[in-house]
Amino acid sequence: MTTSAATSRAPVAVVGCGLMGSGIAEVLARAGRTVLVHEVDDAAAERGRERIGASLARAVRNGKLDEDVRDEVLERVVVGTDLEALAEAELVVEAASEDESVKTDLFRRLDALLVRDDAILASNTSSIPIMKLGTATRRPEQVVGMHFFNPVPVLPLVEVVPSLLTSAETVERVQAVAEDDLGKTVISSQDRAGFIVNALLVPYLLSGVRMLESGFASARDIDAGMVQGCAHPMGPLQLSDLIGLDTIKAIAESLYDEFKEPLFAPPPMLLRMVDAGLLGRKSGRGFYEYSR
Ligand SMILES: NC(=O)c1ccc[n+]([C@@H]2O[C@H](COP(=O)([O-])OP(=O)(O)OC[C@H]3O[C@@H](n4cnc5c(N)ncnc54)[C@H](O)[C@@H]3O)[C@@H](O)[C@H]2O)c1
Repeated sequence: MTTSAATSRAPVAVVGCGLMGSGIAEVLARAGRTVLVHEVDDAAAERGRERIGASLARAVRNGKLDEDVRDEVLERVVVGTDLEALAEAELVVEAASEDESVKTDLFRRLDALLVRDDAILASNTSSIPIMKLGTATRRPEQVVGMHFFNPVPVLPLVEVVPSLLTSAETVERVQAVAEDDLGKTVISSQDRAGFIVNALLVPYLLSGVRMLESGFASARDIDAGMVQGCAHPMGPLQLSDLIGLDTIKAIAESLYDEFKEPLFAPPPMLLRMVDAGLLGRKSGRGFYEYSR
């Protein structure tokens, strides 16, 4: 059973309460931290609260969390729409949509409003250079990548990504939060598109799409090959549907922009599916059909 710790430390903050931000807010609150969460409007804030509530309810149902601890955790998460409310945070983890202009604008505004000189600005970005976020602020030495995996409460990994300007102290502090507070395993990557995991995973997923596109094999046989033959929990096309084809396209494009390697270029089939809104599970259809 997870137990709660007393909260006497400065609050932490999360920006964006979608798939990833809600998970990051949940694990921070379960670690005893007060978590200030920012969303764009009341409807998005309400959806974020519901996501956190549903995930905690699942943990209670599965016997991983006591009901009274769940209530304490929920009390520690404050979701709102006023960015100024984050002013006292000692660490902000930004998990807003994967859009460079949205993120640089947020980093500029957060830099201006954070009260603590030692406050750290971390981003959960999958593909935007940390350097671009750092140079949007007056504190690039306190800007770092902190890349969680979906679902955040379940997957143990965090990639910590310093830019060329990030200080060693910043890296140590986010590593301590990830390891000591959250019990995560930290791996460290240079500030290169895709970091470690997506730089390896995405070309593999794209190879699965190319295999299907060329008529080499069916989707079911490609996936069964990797599940039955390599003990992967799911095949490349099933995993692409789970991650979202738009997300894979965005990561592939940033990998291709950075390295100019043909294996990172998104294949036409993926591009057309994204144009058609066939994004995988979240849209009800990708390489497979899903009932909503
Ligand atoms: N989906 C994944 O598997 C995954 C894994 C690791 C990292 N990431 C990264 O995490 C980030 C979020 O991805 P997601 O999958 O949670 O997306 P999502 O679409 O589920 O959530 C994004 C949230 O950000 C909010 N948002 C947008 N602009 C904002 C702003 N200015 N201020 C506050 N909130 C804002 C949106 O309302 C939305 O709720 C992205 O950078 C993505 O690359 C995603």
